[in-house]
Amino acid sequence: MRVIIEKDYRDLSKKAALLVASQVILKPNSVLGLATGSTPLGMYRELIQMYQRGEINFSEVSSFNLDEYYRLPHDNPESYHYYMQENFFKHINLKAKNIFIPDGMADDIERECRDYEETIKHSGGIDLQILGIGSNGHVGFNEPAEQLNVTTKLVNLTAETIEANSRFFDSAEDVPKMAVSVGMATILKARRIILLASGENKAEAIKNTISGYVSTKTPASLLQTHPEITLIVDRAAANFL
Ligand code: PGA
Repeated sequence: MRVIIEKDYRDLSKKAALLVASQVILKPNSVLGLATGSTPLGMYRELIQMYQRGEINFSEVSSFNLDEYYRLPHDNPESYHYYMQENFFKHINLKAKNIFIPDGMADDIERECRDYEETIKHSGGIDLQILGIGSNGHVGFNEPAEQLNVTTKLVNLTAETIEANSRFFDSAEDVPKMAVSVGMATILKARRIILLASGENKAEAIKNTISGYVSTKTPASLLQTHPEITLIVDRAAANFL
């Protein structure tokens, strides 16, 4: 596990964007695993600027997002479909047919989960997976629990996650209580993983992630078993290291 500590969020975002850009430059038809939340926003902004300067081309890239809320329409501004469109896809030349996000609106969710796994497999697998981390140590929506999902599944969100995400909604009651999330094995199958964490509220989760033990109570700690994982954290998130 490689840990890169950057001064602040801006430097963290630039470093993350450089690593994504180098992946796409070296392999133009890369399969990227993408994340939502506040943390990757700076990285997406940097990548958009690189694209506008002609430094990076996404025309052969495919992308798979980690998760989506259950039963939140795609045009809802808090849905991850909307987030990805607004914050990244509409600004770059990634082709719509190569964009994949779990469909929380699917009539048959179990089938959607199975199909999502199959589509990832048929793409050749994820070359580079970007992850954020919850203050409770979740990755994707794999929440701390006695047992973790292996593959993509419909999951319940913890009270802590609902509270954390209520900042985007009018109230905690409006936050969907369930989501479709790729599973831990889906994440761990990626060839390379970059986990981003910014801010003091992530410091405890980061400490538990690299503690030397794996625990389903900190899902991110399982990443220690991956041979090509890089954490990029700012000083505040590295507070307890
Ligand atoms: P955040 O969310 O980037 O908005 O802090 C990360 C996560 O919950 O995985």
